[in-house]
Amino acid sequence: MKELLAKIKKEALEQIEDANADLEELRVRYLGKKGELTALLRGMGALSPEERPKMGQLVNEARESIEAALSEKAAALREKMLERKLASEKLDVTLPGAALPEGHLHPLTQVQRELEDIFIGMGFSIAEGPEVELDYYNFQALNIPENHPARDTQDTFYISDKVLLRSQTSPVQVRTMEKQRPPIRVISPGRVYRSDALDATHSPLFHQLEGLVVDKGITMGDLKGTLETFAKRVFGPSTRIRFRPHHFPFTEPSVEVDVSCFVCGGCGCRLCKNEGWIEILGAGMVHPFVLSNCDIDPEVYSGFAFGLGLERIAMTKYGIDDIRLFYENDERFLEQF
Ligand code: DAH
Repeated sequence: MKELLAKIKKEALEQIEDANADLEELRVRYLGKKGELTALLRGMGALSPEERPKMGQLVNEARESIEAALSEKAAALREKMLERKLASEKLDVTLPGAALPEGHLHPLTQVQRELEDIFIGMGFSIAEGPEVELDYYNFQALNIPENHPARDTQDTFYISDKVLLRSQTSPVQVRTMEKQRPPIRVISPGRVYRSDALDATHSPLFHQLEGLVVDKGITMGDLKGTLETFAKRVFGPSTRIRFRPHHFPFTEPSVEVDVSCFVCGGCGCRLCKNEGWIEILGAGMVHPFVLSNCDIDPEVYSGFAFGLGLERIAMTKYGIDDIRLFYENDERFLEQF
């Protein structure tokens, strides 16, 4: 019996030593109610009364060493598991983070902000108007009555008889003059809409920037000085501008404004199509009718206005030959700005 006990104990301790998990199974097998030590105790009835306590003591000792080995092993296993967990979850907080790809503003937004900065620097503030506009503001108040040919040149998206998608930012002139008394010095950038087919130079949605100055004694000289300052800031300090007579219903006199080609300096090149000049905007002195429509006395006040296409400025500045590039969201184009 002693030998059997010694064998069980040895086996148990070895198995516990080698165990990697499932200590519970070993505990049940050796110490459980149906375990091997218990079976041994039950067999003690066959022993003589003198031998019984000795054997009992030996069995208890064996039980104690097995229990001790089990709890020691359990502690060791727990420790090992923790170590493994810590190793696998190691986090170096000093490592540089994963870099997120950094975007930037759309080239049109960049140009818009650049122009805003330039005009804000000259004392202008920014006015806003709705893109869904009344016929009155888009045309009527700007001295473009019904059946006026100018309405044909701006193929307009009508929502109803009286409501349309603004075809120009000029209605903001009227909205501003209705709300504000002179002196007025505002620019108004924003989206405009025309039912043009999309091609390299036309888009049914594009962007304009309107300018309006109204005060006592404003002259064409003020217009020229303002636009020259603007052109030098955008296209470089040696840029010159020239006025060509034109017609807009809401200005009198009206001009189209060219800048000297900033690539060739005016000698003629591909960009300016050998003209030496590039057309960039329309402008003029605010028509007396427009002032009167806004309850501003044209005998007391005068003003100038101008309107430019942001796409045109961006295309000229960056040598972009197709307006569609602005709206296609092709990263190969956008990432160049
Ligand atoms: N609204 C005109 C257009 O879309 C541009 C323009 C011309 C605006 C002359 C003006 C201006 O304020 O004075 O073609």
